[in-house]
Amino acid sequence: MSPRGALSIYILIRSMSSIFLNLSNACLLPICSLHGAAVTTVEGVGSTKARIHPVQERVAKCHGTQCGFCTPGMVMSIYTLLRNHPEPTLDQLTDALGGNLCRCTGYRPIIDACKTFCKTSGCCQSKENGVCCLDQGINELPEFEEGNKVSEIPKLFSEEEFLPLDPTQELIFPPELMVRQMTLKELLEAKENPQAPIVMGNTSVGISNHTALFTNDFILGLTLGAGLSLAQVKEILAEVIQKLPEEKTQTYHALLKHLGTLAGCQIRNMASLGGHIVSRHLDSDLNPLLAVGNCTLNLLSKEGERQIPLNEQFLTKCPSADLKPGEILVSVNIPYSRKWEFVSAFRQAQRQQNALAIVNSGMRVFFGEGGGIIRELSIAYGGVGPTTICAKNSCQKLIGRPWNEEMLDAACRLILDEVSLPGWAPGGKVEFKRTLLISFFFKFYLKVSQILKTMVNGTDRVLSALEDLHSRNHWGTSKYQDVDPKQLPQDPIGRPIMHLSGIKHTTGEAIYCDDMPVLDGELFLAFVTSSRAHAEIVSIDLSEALSLPGVVDIVTEEDLRGVNSFCLLIEPEKLLETQEVSCVGQLVCAVVADSEVQAKQAAKKVKIVYQDLEPVILTIEEAIRHHSFFQGERKLEYGNVDEAFKVVDQILEGEIHMGGQEHFYMETQSMLAVPKGEDQEMDVYVSSQFPKYIQVTWVAATLKVPANKIMCHVKRVGGAFGGKVTKTGIMAAITAFAANKHGRPVRCILERGEDMLITGGRHPYLGKYKAGFMNDGRILALDVEHYCNGGSTLDESLFVLETGVLKVDNAYKFPNLRCQGWACKTNLPSNTALRGFGFPQSGLITENCITEVAAKCGLSPEKVRMMNMYKEIDQTPYKQEIDATNLIQCWKECMAMSSYSLRKVAVEKFNSENYWKKKGLAMVPLKFPVGFGSTAACQAAALVHIYLDGSVLVTHGGIEMGQGVHTKMIQVASRELRMPMSNVHLRGTSTETVPNANVSGASLVADLNGLAVKDACQTLLKRLEPIISKNPKGTWKDWAQAAYDESISLSATGYFRGYETHMNWETGEGHPFEYFVFGAACSEVEIDCLTGAHKNIRTDIVMDIGHSINPALDVGQIEGAFIQGMGLYTIEELKYSPQGVLYTRGPDQYKIPAVSDVPTELHVSFLPPSQNSNTLYSSKGLGEPGVFLGCSVFFAIHDAVRAARQERGLLGPLKLDSPLTPEKIRMACEDKFTKMIPRDEPGSYVPWNIPV
Ligand SMILES: Cc1cc2nc3c(=O)[nH]c(=O)nc-3n(C[C@H](O)[C@H](O)[C@H](O)COP(=O)(O)OP(=O)(O)OC[C@H]3O[C@@H](n4cnc5c(N)ncnc54)[C@H](O)[C@@H]3O)c2cc1C
Ligand code: FES
Repeated sequence: MSPRGALSIYILIRSMSSIFLNLSNACLLPICSLHGAAVTTVEGVGSTKARIHPVQERVAKCHGTQCGFCTPGMVMSIYTLLRNHPEPTLDQLTDALGGNLCRCTGYRPIIDACKTFCKTSGCCQSKENGVCCLDQGINELPEFEEGNKVSEIPKLFSEEEFLPLDPTQELIFPPELMVRQMTLKELLEAKENPQAPIVMGNTSVGISNHTALFTNDFILGLTLGAGLSLAQVKEILAEVIQKLPEEKTQTYHALLKHLGTLAGCQIRNMASLGGHIVSRHLDSDLNPLLAVGNCTLNLLSKEGERQIPLNEQFLTKCPSADLKPGEILVSVNIPYSRKWEFVSAFRQAQRQQNALAIVNSGMRVFFGEGGGIIRELSIAYGGVGPTTICAKNSCQKLIGRPWNEEMLDAACRLILDEVSLPGWAPGGKVEFKRTLLISFFFKFYLKVSQILKTMVNGTDRVLSALEDLHSRNHWGTSKYQDVDPKQLPQDPIGRPIMHLSGIKHTTGEAIYCDDMPVLDGELFLAFVTSSRAHAEIVSIDLSEALSLPGVVDIVTEEDLRGVNSFCLLIEPEKLLETQEVSCVGQLVCAVVADSEVQAKQAAKKVKIVYQDLEPVILTIEEAIRHHSFFQGERKLEYGNVDEAFKVVDQILEGEIHMGGQEHFYMETQSMLAVPKGEDQEMDVYVSSQFPKYIQVTWVAATLKVPANKIMCHVKRVGGAFGGKVTKTGIMAAITAFAANKHGRPVRCILERGEDMLITGGRHPYLGKYKAGFMNDGRILALDVEHYCNGGSTLDESLFVLETGVLKVDNAYKFPNLRCQGWACKTNLPSNTALRGFGFPQSGLITENCITEVAAKCGLSPEKVRMMNMYKEIDQTPYKQEIDATNLIQCWKECMAMSSYSLRKVAVEKFNSENYWKKKGLAMVPLKFPVGFGSTAACQAAALVHIYLDGSVLVTHGGIEMGQGVHTKMIQVASRELRMPMSNVHLRGTSTETVPNANVSGASLVADLNGLAVKDACQTLLKRLEPIISKNPKGTWKDWAQAAYDESISLSATGYFRGYETHMNWETGEGHPFEYFVFGAACSEVEIDCLTGAHKNIRTDIVMDIGHSINPALDVGQIEGAFIQGMGLYTIEELKYSPQGVLYTRGPDQYKIPAVSDVPTELHVSFLPPSQNSNTLYSSKGLGEPGVFLGCSVFFAIHDAVRAARQERGLLGPLKLDSPLTPEKIRMACEDKFTKMIPRDEPGSYVPWNIPV
């Protein structure tokens, strides 16, 4: 079973009365819980050997896979849904995908594939006011200019060729499916053993089946069996509220609301109501509601039945109010609500779906017959204490008061007093949490007032606080130019060809490093890492670890004597550190054992004694204070900045801080080193972007053997984004060392938490700027300082910094510009390359400055952007020529496509009509220079063989990491050799076939390797042309045989020497880039000023990508990068303790965008190609540019926050840092509630986390 398929499986369970399918997370399922169930993984759904299932086919053909690592999980989610609902609604489909994550695609193509199963596809399926998305846009504005109707746009896939879904052809239940036999009596007997926990969904600890646990009845309210899954509870509640009068179902409505966002459907399918209640998590969504809803728990033990209330005592585990040993929870009674009783649920999380609440709440008020006087009031909160907290005293004091504004004011003060959070509270975000406590109560106040019609200041503007953020079904369009009608039909260049591995991704047949079968004698390696940010290692005690069964060795610095140090650029680094550690997560030693479990257990038993050292520098500000920088300040100067400042109308100074980003590639760092047993040869299979580096710089150097003894092979990589270069090399070297020492294969696969801790990510940045501008918005002088947080070692920090400095102008001609940059040396894990390489940070700093200039001039940021943009032919600050015609064209097209002007007016109208909800609209331009800065770094090679049966094998130096480079290379070979793509094969990347290949990165992989493949194919064709012309009707088999007979070589290497690029940092001049990718993006958002939530309503992107080689892959790169950028600028937040420990070490704490975060409308359009260039078929590299466009969402939120502040009379400068999380949005929308909360004196406490 593929490990990726294992992420989501479905299980068939025959319960007492029915058979049901459950989508589940395999990692949480104890194998014993599957007794009586049939389990299907993605391999069982369909395969290339048997029959591909329509779900697998459509996800692949709709281009819903890139690296493919997440794909089996996606397939299982859709498949299970279709088995339960053959014609699902779009809501059901997006809900089904809510528990899955994809880091590559941006979800739109996966949603597209899903839509093909819905009854109506191709539109939003929303018929609000009788119009659907295709008729009318969100602001009731036309979506497209005339002549641009969706129907006229060439499609990226053709629905006509899809296999039909025939539910009658699905797998049938195995007849041996058994009913589980455990009885309640047996369960109670088992419970006599106090060590025996009940395991239900196992989502909390990590039962069985009896009617009482799984039924529901309606005596005195709804009694739900404790064994019901949360998904079943959701279904029951949805049915119940249809049948009962609304006044009886207040609590059920509220529960249902939270069940819609609680985790993903996999967890809801597994987690039981009883397990949820009994585990009493601090952030439980349901317990606050059940507590205010006066629920009763029905317990059973051998002594008999009893009832206890689900109240504060139970929630705080007070022994007198808790379950006794031997007792189980059988069911929960949720009483009906009464007339004049109102219940509401509130929650705010970092991400809309599948994220634990930062704060949640259940609130209930009962007035008795009329009068509006409070008779009962209950308020409970989650997320603000060790368990659910009830504001009991506050509620008590408010009884007897009328429901009016005085009561609201008193309630807020009482709540803040009772539910007090210290400044150091775990989880941080303390002021935000305090604000949410009373913001939620205000929402409740408004809601009830609206029903009671007692609102004194009740206007429609205020009631917007109650509406949920706009949620309609997703739809998107992709507009590209079809190939020239004269192009030969078999020529695939320019056509939307499916990813070469698409079907294998969806069937789980694609092999990744950890899928490789276990080899004879294989060992596993686990790292021991430092737990201190800066300390001397006093001693390391390996004895206990070494004594554990299965442990073979522990590799330390001592073993690596003579090869432990390396120098990537100018600063020496070590592979393993046993003297002085400089960050938490630094590699100290590595345990080698017979199995993964043994290695990891032993790694925990290595005892390290530290002596802490000073200083501990974690933040950029601390680094500046300590003057802690890596060597190599970078500076770029153009014009005369100081003189220009003397003539401008206004000068502003500002700064913006930008947090880092985790790569979150789905496949964690993985490697397998296999000693060959003779001549010191070793094969290394690794998930890396840079095999040559692994082979030469790391493994060969560490083993002290020539590089020709080491073969490094990469079949495919499950996502990389820049994170599989440096750290991968270090870990591969240590793994290979262990393999060599023991003469046995050694595998090392990092767990997600280890991976996030060890490998670093995108550099946090601090940008300081001083802009001199005229009152009309023209910026004449810009002086910028960039500081990036490089972490403890240099890694690629200087390159990142250089890129940021070189790209500081983004799309603007600043006649006088100075930019200086420093890489800060801190005690954090070393940061490294991440998609965009400094540009997403640098671009944000510049755009933020422009936004501030616009505010000072009283102009829209878009006007100031346009005014300062490059126009036609010009010169960059490093004096490279630039033709900006297509930049302006993208901007204009984006303005038109997004109906910017009309929507700007509509946004302003919305804002004037709504006080608590605001919309924002922003458009940003993009100039992304592409190149590596040196010709040598751009060289590439390929090897093409023609075999005697006429088939062709292509090899090149690029790595397939989801971007589809292998697919593009086969398209190139197919065009050049004029043969069908099916005749060409590509097996992977290896240092044996193409030596000395450059790193796969910087958007250039297809560009460079494509030119090499083209070169090899042209060489072959030239050799074969005489043979082909002699027998023009022959087949490739005939020609290959004839060539062989004439002793003509059927194998050729291809080479591309690299673009002529260079940069002189002494003079600040050069030609570091080959070309520029231009683009523009316009985004619209809506924010909830009371909670800080935001919804991405719509994004329009226009890109100038030259002549696309494969529009499907190129759209995929743009959308995927855009969504990754959107995550970077809005929700992805790394949190470090004041001691330098990374808290955010997994998907539960670190939130990347999920399907619910994709803009409701996403339109991507390519500018018609206008210029030919010397790139591969005049195409452009697109891997990275789209990331920056995600900041259009940042600035749209900025726009909305500014609107809120203006309305509240806050007209001064607005400083918003990135990521613009719910916390930052809420706290920036200052109001009477933010003024009411207690604030802690800075320095009076140690905060839980610090911004770095
Ligand atoms: C990825 C993920 C996301 C999540 N997101 C959310 C979220 O957004 N909001 C939220 O509120 N929660 C969330 N949760 C928590 C989830 O709701 C709980 O883990 C789940 O409800 C627990 O139920 P279970 O059946 O899995 O319990 P188990 O793990 O099986 O058991 C939990 C505890 O309850 C005891 N127990 C279980 N049943 C009984 C019984 N009948 N009688 C007596 N004792 C019993 C067990 O012995 C154990 O001590 C999330 C969990 C995961 C893993
Ligand atoms: S294709 Fe989804 S994570 Fe790569």
